[in-house]
Amino acid sequence: MGVHSVLQFLIIAGCIASFSDASKPNIVFILADDLGWNDVSFHGSDQILTPNIDSLAYSGVAFGRYYSHAICTPSRSALLTGKYPYKTGMQGNPLGMSEDRGIPTNVRLLPQYFKDVGYSTHLVGKWHAGSSRREYLPTSRGFDSYIGHRGGYIDYYEYTIKEDWEDGQVSGLALFRNLTAAWDVEGYITDVYTDEAIKVIDDHDSSTPLFLMVTHNAPHAGSDTVALQAPSEVVRQMRYIESPDRRIFAAMIKKLDDSVGDIVKALQDKRILENTIIVFAADNGGMTTGLYANYASNYPLRGIKMSPYEGGVRVVGLLWSANLNNTSHYWDGYMHVTDWLPTLLSAAGVEPPTDVDGVDQWESINSNSASQRKEMFEIDDYTGYASITYGDYKLITGKPDENYSGYLGGDLRGVIDSPPSYIDAIADSKVYGVLHSIGRTFDTNFLTLRNKTIINCDVSTTSICYPSNNTVCLFNIIEDPCETTDLSATYPELVASMQQILDVEMTKMIPRILPTVIDPMSAPSLHNFTWDTWID
Ligand SMILES: *[C@@H]1O[C@H](CO)[C@@H](O)[C@H](O)[C@H]1NC(C)=O
Ligand SMILES: *[C@@H]1O[C@H](CO)[C@@H](O)[C@H](O)[C@H]1NC(C)=O
Ligand SMILES: *[C@@H]1O[C@H](CO)[C@@H](O)[C@H](O)[C@H]1NC(C)=O
Ligand SMILES: *[C@@H]1O[C@H](CO)[C@@H](O)[C@H](O)[C@H]1NC(C)=O
Ligand SMILES: *[C@@H]1O[C@H](CO)[C@@H](O)[C@H](O)[C@H]1NC(C)=O
Ligand SMILES: *[C@@H]1O[C@H](CO)[C@@H](O)[C@H](O)[C@H]1NC(C)=O
Ligand SMILES: *[C@@H]1O[C@H](CO)[C@@H](O)[C@H](O)[C@H]1NC(C)=O
Repeated sequence: MGVHSVLQFLIIAGCIASFSDASKPNIVFILADDLGWNDVSFHGSDQILTPNIDSLAYSGVAFGRYYSHAICTPSRSALLTGKYPYKTGMQGNPLGMSEDRGIPTNVRLLPQYFKDVGYSTHLVGKWHAGSSRREYLPTSRGFDSYIGHRGGYIDYYEYTIKEDWEDGQVSGLALFRNLTAAWDVEGYITDVYTDEAIKVIDDHDSSTPLFLMVTHNAPHAGSDTVALQAPSEVVRQMRYIESPDRRIFAAMIKKLDDSVGDIVKALQDKRILENTIIVFAADNGGMTTGLYANYASNYPLRGIKMSPYEGGVRVVGLLWSANLNNTSHYWDGYMHVTDWLPTLLSAAGVEPPTDVDGVDQWESINSNSASQRKEMFEIDDYTGYASITYGDYKLITGKPDENYSGYLGGDLRGVIDSPPSYIDAIADSKVYGVLHSIGRTFDTNFLTLRNKTIINCDVSTTSICYPSNNTVCLFNIIEDPCETTDLSATYPELVASMQQILDVEMTKMIPRILPTVIDPMSAPSLHNFTWDTWID
């Protein structure tokens, strides 16, 4: 069709560099931080309602098998590069504020590809891909403008990050506009990012296409001590939720869902919504317990953030566009975080690069046909585990942390009396209203679509498989999505051939720098109490 073949012609004609064209789709990529599988209502639960996010899923494409990596820095590196994190040395534990490490500067990032074909590129929110040197920062890596936190999370009101060093705690402001500390900002960070994203949209010159990433802090814990933060009047709306911690978490999610509604409304007010592709996705599974626990739930999936089990890597994802051939569907093909780079470039009519691990899924998503992906790897030499998904099967080897690998979060699902009406919440949502105003509301049988996303498992099993030095675990994740039954003894030949593919893949690994080194020159007290760059 039009844009794609015209662009292909122009690529062949070699005049792509001077070509800028408002008919190319705008792209708005919204990323949530530590959001669990069971924390959005389009996955079946009425406990925490996300009517704006759900309305995009019901009128776009809800992904049933979208996979990311289990930890923030690796998953964000994969999203930005289209490469597995172990191919760039970015696997393993997330970056600390005092670490001199970042995505190698010889690797091209997603915004650079879009900038090269005439897009205006903006990032609002979390970076977490390197902040010790100016050359690692978003404005050096393809973004025209940036406001956000450079590290893994931020206090929702104070915008600080604390780290525990050998001789005590250090703390500094972690919010920056381009290259300078953002001392002027006030408010709840989710609202701050929403307002900044709307400003980017309002100020956008519509004669060029827009590439906007909004990478929320929500619903990540604000720190390891003051774990969860939300406006008290929103928390009070969640009294029907039994767990007091989960109530605060639900309020954080509501602010995130409202943000999605406000961004969609801003796109429509600017009259560019109908030429915009919107992605909403989670960076990894929810962190039910342990370090930076946020009371998220991936239940009934097994495992949480930091584990290679499904709860750590099979995450929330959807794509919306007014111009899909096949809307309102549940797509259950494998989609991997590295696939976004080639897929979104393809959607924009740009030939994707060949030196990435991601595959172009645009036609498959658009026409609701089979996924282009057969295998996925999760390799982490730092934590010490590796897994390969091949067809219906997943093999897990090494030593995943057992604390993060069980069936967690089932006890957080309780409600007192009954939650508010889901149907009313959808009908009252901003996104539903916007879609209605442009004649693009979804089918009334969206509850049928919703039912397709529900995972039902019996997880009362008493002997669940953990790999050890000499044993592995093999699961059929299509028939047994909750990884209850180890099949390694049943299919030894399959284990051997999957292990062989995994071993070959592991030879391609660039080792991660070990261990994490704190550079004392990063101390906020040396930089006006901010976490600024310190090596230039
Ligand atoms: C989508 O529809 C257009 C016509 O509207 C057609 O040219 C194109 O081939 C279709 N794409 C797919 C993937 O079906
Ligand atoms: C950030 O940099 C961009 C590009 O130079 C500029 O347009 C924008 O105004 C800058 N923003 C701030 C807050 O300085
Ligand atoms: C939409 O998806 C269905 C499968 O669910 C398929 O049969 C149909 O051909 C697709 N339509 C288009 C236009 O690709
Ligand atoms: C798992 O949790 C237990 C109990 O909280 C703790 O003692 C142990 O150190 C944890 N294991 C790891 C690997 O963190
Ligand atoms: C969805 O599933 C529930 C539980 O199995 C069932 O009661 C309901 O009728 C289903 N709804 C639709 C619209 O299919
Ligand atoms: C597994 O191997 C590691 C490293 O070689 C060793 O430290 C550990 O004791 C072994 N564990 C078991 C249960 O054999
Ligand atoms: C240093 O920090 C203070 C806030 O504590 C701020 O008002 C001031 O502008 C900062 N100075 C510089 C040079 O950035």
